[in-house]
Amino acid sequence: MKITQTPLVILNFKTYLESTGDKALQLAKALEQVAEETGVNMAAAPQGADLRKLSEEVNIPILAQHIDPVDAGGHTGSMLLECAKEAGASGTLINHSEQRMQLADIDMVVNKINTANMTSVVCTNNIPTSAAAAAMKPNFVAIEPPELIGSGIPVSQAEPKIVEGSVAAIKEVNSSVRVLCGAGISTGDDMKAALELGSEGVLLASGIILAPDPKKALLDLVSKI
Ligand code: G3P
Repeated sequence: MKITQTPLVILNFKTYLESTGDKALQLAKALEQVAEETGVNMAAAPQGADLRKLSEEVNIPILAQHIDPVDAGGHTGSMLLECAKEAGASGTLINHSEQRMQLADIDMVVNKINTANMTSVVCTNNIPTSAAAAAMKPNFVAIEPPELIGSGIPVSQAEPKIVEGSVAAIKEVNSSVRVLCGAGISTGDDMKAALELGSEGVLLASGIILAPDPKKALLDLVSKI
C-alpha cells in the first residue's frame, strides 16, 4: 500500500538482532497495534529477507531499506525493485546514510519507484542534499544528520535549524515533497518537536528497537501529537 497519510512514523529495522526474523514480525505487529490504537500511520522497513513475511502477516505499509539502481538481469547480490515489490514492499528508503548512493543512482531508483506507484523516501544528511533530493520528486525526503544517528540525541531538539532549513529548502524546490526527520528520536517530546519544525513525521530506529518494551516506547512516541 502506497503511503499517503501523515503524520507518519517509519521504523527502520536496520540489522539489529532485535528486529531480525521472528523478532521483526513481533516488532511489526507492535507497530500495527499502535497504528490501530492511536490512528497514527506506522510503516516498517525490515531487512530484505523479512519483507515477504511481514507484508503477508501485518497490515501496515512495509518498505525496503534499499533498492539497487539496476534493471533485471545479471546483478548478483542486488535488491531488485521488482523482487521487493512482489515480496510485498510498498516502497523503499533510498540513500540512507548507512547505504549511500550516487546522485544519478538515487534519481534512477526514485524514477523506478514512482513509475511502479510505490513510495520513495530519500534520506539526506544536510540542507543542500535535501534540496537536491527534492528536485528528484520523491514522495518523502527524510533529513538525518549522520552524527546523531544512534546517538540518543534527538535531531528535532538538538539541531532544529537543520530540520527547519531542510523543510524550507525542500518546499522551495518542490512543495509536494513531504519531509520527515530522524536521528536520535525516541520520545513524545522529540516527535512533537519534529512536527512543530514542519516535518510530517519521523524515521527512527534504535530508540524503539532497543527499548525494553518497544510497544510502550511507540505509544510514548506518539503521545503528544
Ligand atoms: O533511519 C533511521 C535512523 O538512521 C535513525 O536511527 O537509531 O538514531 O533512530 P536512530
